[in-house]
Amino acid sequence: MSTGLPLPRVEARAKVTGAARYAVEHSADGVAYGWIVTSTVARGRIEAIDTAAALAAPEVVAVITHENAPRLQPVDDHELRVLQAPEVSYRGQIVGVVVAESLESAREAAALVRVDYAAEGHDVLLVRDHPKLYRPEKVNPNYPTDTSFGDFDGAFAAAEVRVDVTYTTPAFHNNPMEPHATLAVWDEDGLTLYESSQGAPTARAPVAKVLGLADERVRVVAEHVGGGFGSKGTPRPHAVLAAVAAQVTGRPVKLAVTRQQMFQITGYRTPTVQRMRLGADADGRLVAIGHDVQEQTSTVREFAEQTATPTRVMYAGANRRTTHLVAALDVPTPSWMRAPGECPGMYALESAMDELAVAAGIDPVALRVRNDPEVDPEEGVPFSSRNLVACLREGAARFGWDARDPRPSTRREGRWLVGSGVASSTYPARCRPAQAFARAEAGGRHFVVGIGATDIGTGARTVLTQVAAETLGVEPGQVTMMVGDSALPHAPVAGGSAGTASWGSAVQGACRALRAQLDASGGPSGTDTVEATYDTTEDLERQKELSRHAFGAQFVTLRVDVDSGEIRVDRLLGVFAAGRILNPRTARSQFIGGMTMGMAMALMEESVVDLEFGDYLNHDLAQYHVPVNADIPSIEAHWIDEEDPDVNPLGVKGIGEIGIVGTAAAVGNAFFHATGVRIRDLPLRPDRVL
Ligand code: MOS
Repeated sequence: MSTGLPLPRVEARAKVTGAARYAVEHSADGVAYGWIVTSTVARGRIEAIDTAAALAAPEVVAVITHENAPRLQPVDDHELRVLQAPEVSYRGQIVGVVVAESLESAREAAALVRVDYAAEGHDVLLVRDHPKLYRPEKVNPNYPTDTSFGDFDGAFAAAEVRVDVTYTTPAFHNNPMEPHATLAVWDEDGLTLYESSQGAPTARAPVAKVLGLADERVRVVAEHVGGGFGSKGTPRPHAVLAAVAAQVTGRPVKLAVTRQQMFQITGYRTPTVQRMRLGADADGRLVAIGHDVQEQTSTVREFAEQTATPTRVMYAGANRRTTHLVAALDVPTPSWMRAPGECPGMYALESAMDELAVAAGIDPVALRVRNDPEVDPEEGVPFSSRNLVACLREGAARFGWDARDPRPSTRREGRWLVGSGVASSTYPARCRPAQAFARAEAGGRHFVVGIGATDIGTGARTVLTQVAAETLGVEPGQVTMMVGDSALPHAPVAGGSAGTASWGSAVQGACRALRAQLDASGGPSGTDTVEATYDTTEDLERQKELSRHAFGAQFVTLRVDVDSGEIRVDRLLGVFAAGRILNPRTARSQFIGGMTMGMAMALMEESVVDLEFGDYLNHDLAQYHVPVNADIPSIEAHWIDEEDPDVNPLGVKGIGEIGIVGTAAAVGNAFFHATGVRIRDLPLRPDRVL
């Protein structure tokens, strides 16, 4: 048995010794360096660009703007059509790129590019009931915009206990350790992008399309990636810009997005305004569940986050409705950020459940257990497995929940008010079609397995090695796992927490097929190789119709300084039900990473809009606050044994995102328990607390 063991990352040594190459660490002969020039107005038109001073600066090779850039093809994601027109749709939009012999010269010359704008007024702030709100056709990735069952209005009006509250969340920016970066190299075969991407194979087609190339002419390599959190899930405009710069100059070009530019061109989580209405009988049984979402998109492309979708699966209740509205503002296009939809949506639902528990005088764990549905409450089909109640019970036992005095604002330690809170967590357990190969070499003593998966630092390479070794019946050390290249068999993005399930099912299939061939033939002799391939498409088409989700329970203890408003989290404890856990070491990292990010959402992270310039004020890690180890003295992630053969061929549920879901609500609920005050706008800044 190789799965289930805490195998260290197979690439750990390469990473700590610096041998692992990230995107722009790859080398290329004759390489030049690009520096992005961005717009300084939020809306308007470029009237003139003067590039003379930049072109005269030392070492400058080229300055590319909409006036001299090659024409690009139409694509769905208009953000990829860089430098095609003088119109400016948001502050920080790419208006040019300077290419030079060194990074320093490119940067220096970029400051010399003079752009004159005809600026127009901008509208960059999402406010409640914004006049530009409209109803999108679908919400991401393809869910119905609204759902309605029974008579929500009537049931809510008649409910014995009612909660009608509105929560707001600000924009949040993904900040992976490695900023987005591309090395673009053209040769006779076409274009190669060494790209910091969550999906080398999936990035290829949109880049090829916008450049007017056949897919086979583009190769994307993402061998090692320093995180993404969703922001590298689709190609960003800088990747196309690097390809264009390399094409125009006839040189390989390295283009690294700066941390500051990441706040403008690589995506973020939309702010939300969420009205929650919960109606229950005196025993806390939900009779009416309403979740109405308002959020933003850009004028460049519609991005409609699926914020209310978790409310469709969480709790039983005959009368229910969910709705989404979006406003197209003069802002960068929002994008995926860890648990898009589920994360902000569950903040609102799980905060409202706490308010309902208080209003009904019922323990918040008991309230959630009481409303656990038998089947998916909107789809009407069974769950492949649903162990929310087991997570709540085990979490409560480990946390010591039963000893909690429910009365708010009654525990004081010096200047601190102390409280605890709970919230549920969920995330869809997706599995997408994937292909893989497995090859026996060296007389059947060594194996090479390949799939176009991407390891963004999560341990994907390692768990796939474990799946391959176990299926082949060999040691992990006998398997070389090849990932991170669009030249490998096609596989889905490292996103939607679907990576391990999708890729692992394909790797398992390929290794089973190879094992069968070897058992029949006796294995390769000498330098011969035996290879098998597998495609999971048909397996997935044959799957039963079920509702597939992971679940979890989050518990928090915190204290609030009554003089300063400072909040310190003392303890986070999560229990998750996510199918088979393949590697407890990397799984734990995923869970506690998500929980930490959820805590930061509640207390620290916030992208602050500058109304005058129409951009984010705090666009670096000095002012956009993310937590460090000292911010959480105790963090525990546990999981329950969950056998779920029906969820997908491998029996695993993704764990990349569920850890963040619910944590912010648990923090807010603990804050209420500590203080007796309910703050419904994140983050819980000291100025809001006091
Ligand atoms: Mo995740 S935000 O779907 O990469």
